[in-house]
Amino acid sequence: MAGRRALIVVSNRGPVTFDRGPDGERVLRRGGGGLVTALRGLLEHHDVTWVAAATTDEDRAVAAEGSSEVAFVAPEPGVYHGYYNVVANPMLWFIQHGLWGRGLRPDLDEAFHAAWRDYETVNRAFADRVVVELDNRPEAAVLFQDYHLYLAPGYVRAARPDAALAHFVHIPWPVDWTILPEAMRRAVHEGLLANDVVAFHTARWARNFEASCDDVVGGHGKTRVTHHAISIDAAEFDELAGSDGVLAEERQLEERRPEKLVLRVDRTDPSKNIVRGLEAFGLLLDTRPEWRGRARMLALLDPSRQSIPEYVEYVAAIERVTEAIDARHPGAVDLQVADNFQRSVAAYKQFDVLLVNAVYDGMNLVAKEAPLVNTRDGVLVLSENAGAHEELAEWAITVNPFDVWGQAAALHEALSMDEAERRRRRDAICDHVREHDVHAWLDGLLADLDSV
Ligand code: F6P
Repeated sequence: MAGRRALIVVSNRGPVTFDRGPDGERVLRRGGGGLVTALRGLLEHHDVTWVAAATTDEDRAVAAEGSSEVAFVAPEPGVYHGYYNVVANPMLWFIQHGLWGRGLRPDLDEAFHAAWRDYETVNRAFADRVVVELDNRPEAAVLFQDYHLYLAPGYVRAARPDAALAHFVHIPWPVDWTILPEAMRRAVHEGLLANDVVAFHTARWARNFEASCDDVVGGHGKTRVTHHAISIDAAEFDELAGSDGVLAEERQLEERRPEKLVLRVDRTDPSKNIVRGLEAFGLLLDTRPEWRGRARMLALLDPSRQSIPEYVEYVAAIERVTEAIDARHPGAVDLQVADNFQRSVAAYKQFDVLLVNAVYDGMNLVAKEAPLVNTRDGVLVLSENAGAHEELAEWAITVNPFDVWGQAAALHEALSMDEAERRRRRDAICDHVREHDVHAWLDGLLADLDSV
């Protein structure tokens, strides 16, 4: 582990968020998501100031008091809406995960152009806050995170030319950015290239970034482009797997479990490819009668971004396809749309087949978390477009996320695999994840910073 250092971490979602409890008292919640969980590890070992958006009324109250471990940026809610619900999600997210069909959508109307100005405004607010923090601690290195903040590094660089700036992009990077008008895609690239280092999870996303820089701005200049695979805290997961809450959930699962449990655990995000995954399971039962009554799919889905119409529509599509399968094979799919992390970990322990079939995914930590605590030598069926595939392909069954027929065939192969082969593969995944855990990721990131 490298020595203690001064860091300014900048992300949309912070490590904590505040709300009011039933009696009106202030309650603190840990921020969710893989990014925040992974970066929280920095807090113990370094002197970190975390700059994040105030996302609740109570966050804004805390921001006004200036009384938190988080340096909150508190944009006006209407401006935050344009930045988060229109530009960052879905526009940038959909571009980067290849989700636009392009025939009719996206439609970059007047409202979108107004929202782009909100994106600029919020990025400027983040940058202003970073500059204040840099004035307090000029030696600190700044670590920007993700697609909400592509413009902020450019604003900081203009104000503090000598600052050490790095940006970690946690989602895929496509080569083609032509959906965004020229001025906007140029702004995205120039903003990122104001950093000393731009990092991704995989070589594939880093390569694509270099290619899109060539197209949009004629190269990536002096900026160092690197990749480090994010991971999990293996020790924390082991502990969680044995905790009372998880054991209680596991007992309930075991009482109802089928002979073969096919599991998926995702946010209800179109990038996760839940609809095609369900269709593949339905097709498996249609075409392979031997699995009827023996295999059941458990889909544990965490509701996500429900203030965005595309995400609401996606939940409806998931429900429709589940009903269609249920009409043909009653009880074959157990769909649960709820935020219950303990149940997810219990299911991680119990699966026979884990389906991770993302359309595209920066990494996908479920593919690392679930095999680590699994007790049944379960098989991983993994999309070739998930970042995790770069590390785990050798021990998984690879699927093309658009090929429903191929996914049904992969599920059959996974369900039929003999025990010795299943064990060999799961052991290899566990060894890899333990060796390349989140601490290795953080060390890699900090070594990059040392190099600038
Ligand atoms: O990097 C993608 C990411 O920020 C993850 O950390 C997390 O899984 C997800 O997106 C959270 O999205 P949101 O903050 O919009 O809920």
